[in-house]
Amino acid sequence: MRIETVGVVGCGLMGSGIAEVAARAGYDVVVREIDAGAVAAGRARIERSLARAVEKEKISTEDRAAALGRLRFTTEVADLGDRDLVVEAIVEDLDAKAQLFQALDEVCGESTIYATNTSSLTVTDMAARTGRPQRFVGLHFFNPVPVMKLVEVVRTIATADEVVEAAFAFARGLGKEPIAARDASGFVVNLLLVPYMLDAIRQLERGVASIEDMDTAMVLGCGHPMGPFTLCDFVGLDTTWRIAEIMFDEYREPRYAPPPLLKRMVALGRHGRKAGKGFYDYSGPEPVPLPL
Ligand code: CAA
Ligand code: NAD
Repeated sequence: MRIETVGVVGCGLMGSGIAEVAARAGYDVVVREIDAGAVAAGRARIERSLARAVEKEKISTEDRAAALGRLRFTTEVADLGDRDLVVEAIVEDLDAKAQLFQALDEVCGESTIYATNTSSLTVTDMAARTGRPQRFVGLHFFNPVPVMKLVEVVRTIATADEVVEAAFAFARGLGKEPIAARDASGFVVNLLLVPYMLDAIRQLERGVASIEDMDTAMVLGCGHPMGPFTLCDFVGLDTTWRIAEIMFDEYREPRYAPPPLLKRMVALGRHGRKAGKGFYDYSGPEPVPLPL
């Protein structure tokens, strides 16, 4: 089974990266967003990232033009009907994702493979709500997608072997390193990473140190590329909160429970870097920690 045509649903932080790396790798890509404004924002995000890759001499201007030429944007689910693979990267909400896959069931050919980029939902819960659980797999990319090499490939007890093989081949074709993960909420990385991020917020609530000092501590003390608050802002506080809710619901362990401060920040629209404000304010030349 060869994948040649790809659909990406959602063109936010992750969908834009997935569409970009697929187009750069030579796939014909259709990207679906909810409305014209979201299409424009998603397209601009991809264009900025490609411009950055040209600037850093990772790709030539011809490569950029070719990648853009392989990308089409739409607001219609029906435009995904002819795809070999559809990768979903919409909001982290089971009902929204299930509704999308049910709409895809109406338009996609029987052979289309469905993949989800979910961070914390189980792939089985989505697959069970479609007409093709055997052709459903998890393809979990990492932010920023053009840079991070890992893809977690998640099979359920229903996923066909040939679909898993196609998913591994697709990830390798993008220049990524796929690993096999079992279908448990959080897979491998988020099972370890999410409690760390939530714990940092809890320590902040307890007044252990300032946002800036805790970030500096983990960068200079442990060699992390970013501290926990910069990372939360980078992932998106809305997404982090949803992930925590889902993982807590799954495991009922306090370490996955969303800290009240995170919930309050999401309520205020402080969704992190993508919103211009999270633990830091990103409106100036350098991020400035916000008073809490
Ligand atoms: N898109 C494309 N390329 C990007 C980028 C972006 N958004 N951000 C950075 N880059 C590239 C730069 O072009 C640069 O490339 P070169 O080294 O070839 O020049 C490289 O990445 C490093 O960038 P910078 O020098 O500008 O910045 P940096 O050294 O601070 O690195 C970073 C930025 C790669 C994001 C680094 O800080 C990092 O690795 N952070 C941790 C990211 C992380 O943990 N991601 C996982 C999040 S959790 C997740 O994704 C799972 C989930 O379900 C929530
Ligand atoms: P985001 O908020 O940046 O983007 C989500 C996009 O989906 C938005 O642009 C929204 O308009 C669009 N959307 C919503 N419903 C849609 C629909 N029915 N059809 C088409 N588009 C729709 O979110 P994100 O950070 O890109 O996260 C997307 C998914 O990827 C989530 O499941 C998240 O858990 C997962 N994920 C996120 C990260 C991260 O670091 N942010 C990392 C790995 C996986």
